[in-house]
Amino acid sequence: MTDRPLTLAVPKGRVLKVLAPLFKTAGVDTEGLLADDRKLVRETPNGIRFLLLKPDDVPTYVEYGAADLGVSGRDVLLERRYDLYQPLDLGIGKCRMVVAGMAGETTPPVPRVATKYPHIATDHFASQGVQAEVIFVQGSVELAPLVGLADVIVDIVETGDTLRENGLVEREVITHISSVVVANRAQFKLRRREIDPLLTALRSAVQSA
Ligand code: PRP
Repeated sequence: MTDRPLTLAVPKGRVLKVLAPLFKTAGVDTEGLLADDRKLVRETPNGIRFLLLKPDDVPTYVEYGAADLGVSGRDVLLERRYDLYQPLDLGIGKCRMVVAGMAGETTPPVPRVATKYPHIATDHFASQGVQAEVIFVQGSVELAPLVGLADVIVDIVETGDTLRENGLVEREVITHISSVVVANRAQFKLRRREIDPLLTALRSAVQSA
């Protein structure tokens, strides 16, 4: 297992665009990482191998040891309980998990809640003594209150554009989210000599960003 290159699972898409410059500042050659092709494994001249994944799958690859390290949003980590180290907050991919509903309406005592995050939503309302009816949807969550599927949504807000453009307003902030480095517990110990310098360089890159 340890003769393979140090392997990092990273999310494809918008986080990768801000993640790559951070790795570059940390001294990792990111040219291959950003190549515009369909390759899912990207090797760098620094001897690091990147796996390009759907964001939700990153912690799974790291937990099972298919990757040593990964970059994951705290939203995914909060929704599903993984057994992972979280050694560094990268301060990117910042957004917030909120309860939102139609402007001018209030949340009913037993709300129907549409969300991609059923555990976070259930726990949030339970912590207020509210037994919400949580409805799982995969995306376009903002649609649910517009067409009567739900009273409110629990979702991520970054710029607020999607809420605004659909006539929704934030009612509560549940938690603030950012991207963090996650590490496989066993590999974190076995590969410390490779992982420590990378984390130190990334920490400096985060501080200088
Ligand atoms: C996310 C999130 C919101 C939107 C928030 O969706 O679920 O819908 O981004 O961003 P904003 O506050 O900047 O408008 P995503 O783009 O990942 O698509 P999805 O609805 O298919 O999940």
